[in-house]
Amino acid sequence: FATKTKTQSISTMAVDEENVGNVKRQLAKIFEVSLKTTVPDETDVEPLIAACTGKFGDYQCNNAMGIWSKIKGKKTEFKGPPSVGQAIMKNLPPSEIIESCSVAGPGFVNVVLSKDWMAHSLQRMLIDGIDTWAPRLPVKRAVVDFSSPNIAKEMHVGHLRSTIIGDTLARMLEFSHVEVLRRNHVGDWGTQFGMLIEFLFEKFPNPENVNEAAIGDLQAFYKASKQKFDSDPEFKQTAQQAVVRLQGGEAKYRKAWAKICEISRTEFHRVYQRLGVHLEEKGESFYNPYIPGVLEKLNQQGLIEESEGARVIFVEGVNIPLIVVKSDGGYNYASTDLAALWYRLNEEKAEWIIYVTDVGQQQHFDMFFKAAKRAGWLPADGASYPKATHVGFGLVLGEDGKRFRTRNTEVVRLVDLLDEAKNRSKSALIERETAKDWSEEEIEKTAEAVGYGAVKYADLKNNRLTNYTFNFDQMLSDKGNTAVYLLYAHARICSIIRKSGKDIEELKRAGKIVLDHQDERALGLHLLQFSEVVEEACTNLLPNVLCEYLYNLSEIFTKKFYSNCQVVGSPEETSRLLLCEATATVMRKCFYLLGIVPVYKI
Ligand code: ARG
Repeated sequence: FATKTKTQSISTMAVDEENVGNVKRQLAKIFEVSLKTTVPDETDVEPLIAACTGKFGDYQCNNAMGIWSKIKGKKTEFKGPPSVGQAIMKNLPPSEIIESCSVAGPGFVNVVLSKDWMAHSLQRMLIDGIDTWAPRLPVKRAVVDFSSPNIAKEMHVGHLRSTIIGDTLARMLEFSHVEVLRRNHVGDWGTQFGMLIEFLFEKFPNPENVNEAAIGDLQAFYKASKQKFDSDPEFKQTAQQAVVRLQGGEAKYRKAWAKICEISRTEFHRVYQRLGVHLEEKGESFYNPYIPGVLEKLNQQGLIEESEGARVIFVEGVNIPLIVVKSDGGYNYASTDLAALWYRLNEEKAEWIIYVTDVGQQQHFDMFFKAAKRAGWLPADGASYPKATHVGFGLVLGEDGKRFRTRNTEVVRLVDLLDEAKNRSKSALIERETAKDWSEEEIEKTAEAVGYGAVKYADLKNNRLTNYTFNFDQMLSDKGNTAVYLLYAHARICSIIRKSGKDIEELKRAGKIVLDHQDERALGLHLLQFSEVVEEACTNLLPNVLCEYLYNLSEIFTKKFYSNCQVVGSPEETSRLLLCEATATVMRKCFYLLGIVPVYKI
């Protein structure tokens, strides 16, 4: 086994074993040593390492200018940023990672990575598995509060976005060794249930036997009951009493409530099942018993005040207060969220609590996080842990530039939307010559992977804060930055490996990667950046960063490597097959993190 001795020498170096896949961090360790030697008196200098965009190197260290501005007034041997850069370069400890360095412009230290080390790292990943490239985050447990539709109301595209984005964030955190509590904070509590329950009693004198088929469309049911509530004062009164009886725990009302929740849930589950998303429901009702105690604590801290009959918390920078008890004495969205945050911090011991909703709720989260900071639940700086973060996202637009709706109905049924994506991808598949001899099951599975993958990717590839236009033709195109293009690229790589007739497991052990051709090297470098990209996507909660990486990977593979480096039948076949395998492995991990099921043939 050719690389064995190297393995040992690498692990004796100052390399962070826990971050073997993260080149940036490994370089940071080496530069840290140099910075300590270069400016021993400056204690708070953190290495600033970035991937290079230019052609002078792969990475660069950007500390020289910052250091110069700190020391220029003092007695120093340096004459300016370039001489600081020179010193940083000179003081670097010997390292297998670095091939060569140079100083450019105002002191940037450019690093060219050793291609032997790169090749070796790739090979080690192939042998040890890509999980060894997982980022490490400074948190053990996180809550991701996502999807969270409302019972009996429409589950709309906003909830779809939340489901897709939240799932990806959860996957990235889980990959990074964070225990994630995937929370579905469903809206299953509130005054609307009085009216729904009364309406249910009226329509079905024996609600025990009611099921989805009997009620039909729960949204229509909601609308009809609302109409009655608004037009019939007598009904309104019984509905209001029903809320009291429900909240008082009366069995008949509890049962009816549970029934309505159950019917709603089956619809939600159809969406989750198609998307392959797993969530644990802890709805608003769960936190209801905690509200009085939590508000009492806040009250004792003197945070709760009286305002226009309501009980409120004032927070900095916002002129309206956060209402925590309405003037009618009832609790609201904010009271529930305060209780839930308290529960997540104290009972569940989560260190990072992430809420995925549309940007329209930004003010709510801003205010209630500020209230939590006033109460001392969260550190005031907003950066250290425990931390609460609102992950906002923009609207889904239709072709007309307005909020997304389908032609004939007012709202888009998410299940129909997903089914259409699948059916369209199925028709496209059937038209392909290659799929002629596929089994029905293969076609089904591929159509699902491509169809649902397309919907997810079209959402995730944009910066989440921007609005995007929903367009089936675009997202299902096999050209451009789409899931279809990427899934096919992956399948093509798999078929190169299959057609070689080589046993790839055997090659991983006996073969050796070399990166002599510039396009082999470019591909290798991009592969090695996977870990730092996931870390960035995770830390900044931006799935589009990973999408961009994946798209670039596929472009570098296709347009550089595969165009210019013959694989099968070339003298470099073994190495190049291993590079294909490494690319497919990284692509699959990207797909996995984006919640997309890979396909292996097209
Ligand atoms: N049910 C809410 C809605 O549909 C989203 C809940 C988000 N989570 C939270 N803890 N507030 O808008």
